[in-house]
Amino acid sequence: MRLKRFISVADVAAPTELVEEVIQLKKNKFQFNQLGLEKTIALLFFNPSLRTRLSSQLAAKLLSMYDMVLDVNHGWPLEFGLGAIMDKDRSEHVQEAAAVISQYCDLLGIRSFPSLTSQKADYSEPVLNAFETYGSKPIINLESATRHPLQGLTDMVTIAEYQNTTRPKIVLTWAPHPKALPQSVANSFTAWCLAMGHDLTITHPEGYALDPQITQGANIEYDPAKAYEGADFVYAKNWSSFEQYGQIISQDQRWLVESTKWAVTNDANFMHCLPVRRNVVVADAILDSSSSLVIQQANNRTFAAATVMKCILQHMNT
Ligand code: CP
Repeated sequence: MRLKRFISVADVAAPTELVEEVIQLKKNKFQFNQLGLEKTIALLFFNPSLRTRLSSQLAAKLLSMYDMVLDVNHGWPLEFGLGAIMDKDRSEHVQEAAAVISQYCDLLGIRSFPSLTSQKADYSEPVLNAFETYGSKPIINLESATRHPLQGLTDMVTIAEYQNTTRPKIVLTWAPHPKALPQSVANSFTAWCLAMGHDLTITHPEGYALDPQITQGANIEYDPAKAYEGADFVYAKNWSSFEQYGQIISQDQRWLVESTKWAVTNDANFMHCLPVRRNVVVADAILDSSSSLVIQQANNRTFAAATVMKCILQHMNT
């Protein structure tokens, strides 16, 4: 498959085919090791990362592509305001930075979290859009204000590897967390599940509904006990409120993923994108059990990233 860019699942004409390409690449991870020769990827991190950073660097290596990493906010904070009078701490505007970085690379990966103060601003994806406008290279979204498509692709691969029925019941459950977190993982998991035609139930407390434009087609269940019934996969994730944007409106520990709830599942697999707060989001008994797929998910990040880079390089070669 050829990809022009990878901002969200909407950039993928056939999501099921892309999942299959990841599975095939994983079987022989060096099969495209000539494709990235003499190519460079710049990886810009406006926010910290363990998995995305290391798996993206490793993915570039599988394709023999050179990678450059820049920690933007710690090393070189950028101004984004159009017409800004730049008399404070930011010494470079994204207008020049995006154009300059585009001279140094063939692909551009960007991680940039939301402000969680303005729904309108965050959902307009200002950082990705600025690099698309002022840069000139294909962008891979390494988790933006509202999407984490590499995680979504990875999760679909992991489900494909472990499903033992043709249409498993998949549950996305909100879980408590002490910090206000983005909606990006939950949005992308939902969008990918629906694009793949999966049977998805989302369960969360009142006030935690995700963007209805994204969840259209999913079952919504406010009672977690009902949602868990017969589940084949339970994916836990905290997100801050979309309606009361960016707010923590519940830390109810009854939403912890634990063994009592698990008893009514169909011997479900547990999934989480990591990092995860033990015994706040999920009990040790579930996370440390053979049901947990979190390490397998993290492993698949490398192959998802390599496949996306491969598909963009193949598009550039046509
Ligand atoms: N799941 C995920 O994106 O992890 P990092 O924040 O460590 O990259």
